[in-house]
This record gives sequence, C-alpha cells and structure tokens, in this order.
Amino acid sequence: MSDWYRDFANSGFGTTITKQLGLPRPAVLRRHEPGQPLLPGPAVVGSAGEGRLRDALTQLLQAEGVHVQSPVTADGATDGEKPAAVLLDATGVRSPADLASAHDFLSPAVKRLRATGRVLILADPPSDADSPAQAAARQALDGLVRSIAKELRGGSTANLIYVPAGAETALASPVRFFLSGRSAYVDGQVVTLSAAEVPGDEDGDKPLAGKVAVVTGAARGIGAAIAKVMARDGAHVVAVDVPAAGDSLAAVANQIGGTALQLDITADDAPQRLIDHLRERHGGVDIVVHNAGITRDKLLVNMDAARWNSVMAVNLQAQLDITEALLDAEGVLKDGARIVCVSSQSGIAGNRGQTNYAASKAGVIGMVRAWAPRFAERNATINAVAPGFIVTEMTAKMPFGTREIGSRINSLQQGGLPVDVAETIAWLAQPGSAGVNGQTVRVCGQSMLGA
Ligand SMILES: NC(=O)c1ccc[n+]([C@@H]2O[C@H](COP(=O)([O-])OP(=O)(O)OC[C@H]3O[C@@H](n4cnc5c(N)ncnc54)[C@H](O)[C@@H]3O)[C@@H](O)[C@H]2O)c1
Repeated sequence: MSDWYRDFANSGFGTTITKQLGLPRPAVLRRHEPGQPLLPGPAVVGSAGEGRLRDALTQLLQAEGVHVQSPVTADGATDGEKPAAVLLDATGVRSPADLASAHDFLSPAVKRLRATGRVLILADPPSDADSPAQAAARQALDGLVRSIAKELRGGSTANLIYVPAGAETALASPVRFFLSGRSAYVDGQVVTLSAAEVPGDEDGDKPLAGKVAVVTGAARGIGAAIAKVMARDGAHVVAVDVPAAGDSLAAVANQIGGTALQLDITADDAPQRLIDHLRERHGGVDIVVHNAGITRDKLLVNMDAARWNSVMAVNLQAQLDITEALLDAEGVLKDGARIVCVSSQSGIAGNRGQTNYAASKAGVIGMVRAWAPRFAERNATINAVAPGFIVTEMTAKMPFGTREIGSRINSLQQGGLPVDVAETIAWLAQPGSAGVNGQTVRVCGQSMLGA
C-alpha cells in the first residue's frame, strides 16, 4: 500500500512539478528502527526565562549520544551541522512578555531544522499557574506549538509536554518518544505529565522485556501491527480476536512467538475467560491494549438499534467490563500495569454517519481520564490513542477522491501507517512512561479534523 503521490512528489521530475504548481510535497517520514540513534544529528536546547529543565534535558540528550549545540547567537553564528531537533525549556515563562524570548530562540533555530526534525517544547501546565497572566502565557505555548507544527515541512513535527512541579523524573520517556522515529505521525500534540515513580534502567532495545501483553483485535490491521511491535520490544503477546478470525489470529501469534486466544470480547463470560487464561497460563498481565473495534455507519435518522448497540458493545462496553474485571481480580493485573485504549479522531471531531462510532470513541477518552487516578494508586496507567487517517486494507477500498482528501488534510500531508499507532501504544506501555496517565494522544499527523 505505497503512497503513489508521495513517491511521485519525491522523485526528480515530481519535485519540479509539485514545486511549480504549489502542490503538497509529503515527505518520507523518519520511522523507528531498533538500534538506530535517537536523532540523526545534533540538537539545540534553549530556554525562555529561568527554566528548571534545561540542564536535565541536556544531560538526557548527551546520555543518548546526541551532540547538543549552543543556540544560534544574535549575529547568526552557529556551531556547525543543521540540528535534527530544537528543544525549548519554557518553564521560566511567567507572563506573555516572557514569550518574546521563546520567539527569539525558536525563530532562528527552527529555520535551520533539518528534514524529519523535531521541535519539542516543555512548560508548566496552565492549570497550576498562580495568576491569569501566567496561565495565559503557558496556554499560549499550546497555540505556538500547534502553529509551528503546521508550518514545518519535510516530515518534521512539533509537540508540547506540560511538566508539573514534581513530575520532572517522568520526563525521559516522553522526551525520547517525541524525538525518536516512534512518533513519526504524532504531530501538534500536547501531553501533560503527572508525578509518578519511574523505574530506572530500561533496556533501550527491548523496553517491554519480560512483560505479558494482551492485544484485542490482533488478527489483522492495526491490532496485528501492535502485536508485532510489542513482541519486537520484548513482550510476550496474548493475541485476542473472534473465533471467525482464528486462522489469521494464529498466523499473527505464530509469527511473533505469542499466544492466540479466540474470544469475542462482548460475550458475557469474556472478562472471566480472559482472566482465567492470564492467571493460569501467564501468572497475570502487565499490558492490555483494547484495540478491537467495529464500525456500523448510517446517518442517525436511519440508524437502527442493532447498529447502535453492536458498536457500543465492542468499542466501549467491552473495554469498560474487561478493565473493571481486571482491577477486581486479585493478583492478575500486575503493579505498574499499563492499559492503552484505542479511540479515534472521530471521537474528537465527530463524523457524518458515525454517531454510534464517534460516541463510543469519545466515551473511551472520558473513561481513561476518569480511571487515571485509580490506576495511579497502583503505580499503573491508563491512556488512549486516537488514530487519524491510517492506511489499511479498509482505506485502500475507499473511492480514490475520498481517500486522497482524507489522507492529505493533515500537516504531514499523508496517511499514517498501522505501525505509527503501534509505536505510540508501545511507548505508552513502557515502564518509563509511568508519568503519562489519563491522556489521549492523537496519531493523526495533526489532522485538520477536530484540531
Ligand atoms: N483504520 C483506521 O484508520 C482507524 C482510525 C481510527 C481508529 N481506528 C481504530 O483502531 C482499531 C483497529 O482498527 P483497524 O482498522 O485495524 O480495524 P480492523 O477491522 O482491520 O480490525 C479490527 C479487529 O478487531 C476484531 N474484533 C471485532 N470485534 C471483536 C470482538 N467482539 N471481539 C474480539 N475481536 C473483535 C476484528 O475481528 C478485527 O480483527 C479500532 O478500534 C478502530 O476503531 C482505526
């Protein structure tokens, strides 16, 4: 399922044509390969005001083998290569006037950013501000980063992490994610950290080593990609899907050395069967990815109860019931567990013909937010990812025009791949991501829908 237009726009002839006609030129994104360095070049780190994270950021980058450049000086002098990342510690921003120093640092630095680069801003959350002026300045960074993301080209992204006081130790895993190729299709996003106990010494190549991970809807599509990425990262995957998908489920499980479990997640006994399997075969579970989902589209005025009920049952009620049962079952959900729920851009933006689907996917966002404090008590987390236009067999069958428009109306001017959703989920599942809880991360290339 190659992107013919992106391939054309990046060919010699295509580059000339698209430039002359002012057409979009989607870039080939930088995606994660095990063993590759965090960044393909140096990083430049700056601060706006007296930030408290700049030194920690610099140390983190240096520990990853990244050369940290000094910011561009007033006379335009630089120290060498174009940066692959521009990081701004904006925790010193106290008023709108302080934002001028953010502009002074970012403008020349972003100008030099190489293709597939990363802009990452760190700030205190507006909700913790002492005054309206401080809240305004912190919130202003949200608008700033979303606009930078829309201005960047060449497959570069811009994202913002809000770091409340006390959550500094949770910073490393999110910073690594946003700089790495794992976040290739995550753009214009804002993640707010919370204070958490973060285990040290994660194995860089196999961050999920020794973990047992359940992935529902794993027989194909995004679920199969999640199962593969989790296995690559070291987890033993219990791949779940309906009996009718048994053959492809077995193929996925065999390919990754995992276990196949045929289960309709909407069946009354599904939570108990899953719990029994996990207890007896694996001694419990560390990671649960609620990925299985269905669509039954019709305009609301034409939608029958069967369409409404089946979508709610698979996309929302099963996630609630299984999670509740896991929380209640003694000794099954391990301390430090990670639950990741698949929502959708439709749950944020709404979509014509998808009242049932959008309601279910919005419900998932509310569910993870409400459950986060209870999970935090166990040093565990629950988060959601909301995919945008992801290139799958389903989207390949769309009419040409619908597909082309759907895949281009985002800042990266292309559809994402199942692996992009999988990488984001695998990151949220890492032990080091303990400080990311109750969040919904869009994997949509900064889609204009619901932005
Ligand atoms: N493809 C996209 O562009 C896109 C965009 C946003 C969100 N999503 C969401 O991502 C998830 C995966 O989507 P996909 O495109 O890979 O879909 P898909 O239809 O290719 O795969 C879904 C899988 O879930 C399984 N499943 C359905 N009902 C089940 C049940 N009752 N019990 C167990 N398994 C069941 C199916 O058999 C199938 O293997 C879904 O939650 C979907 O809503 C997809």
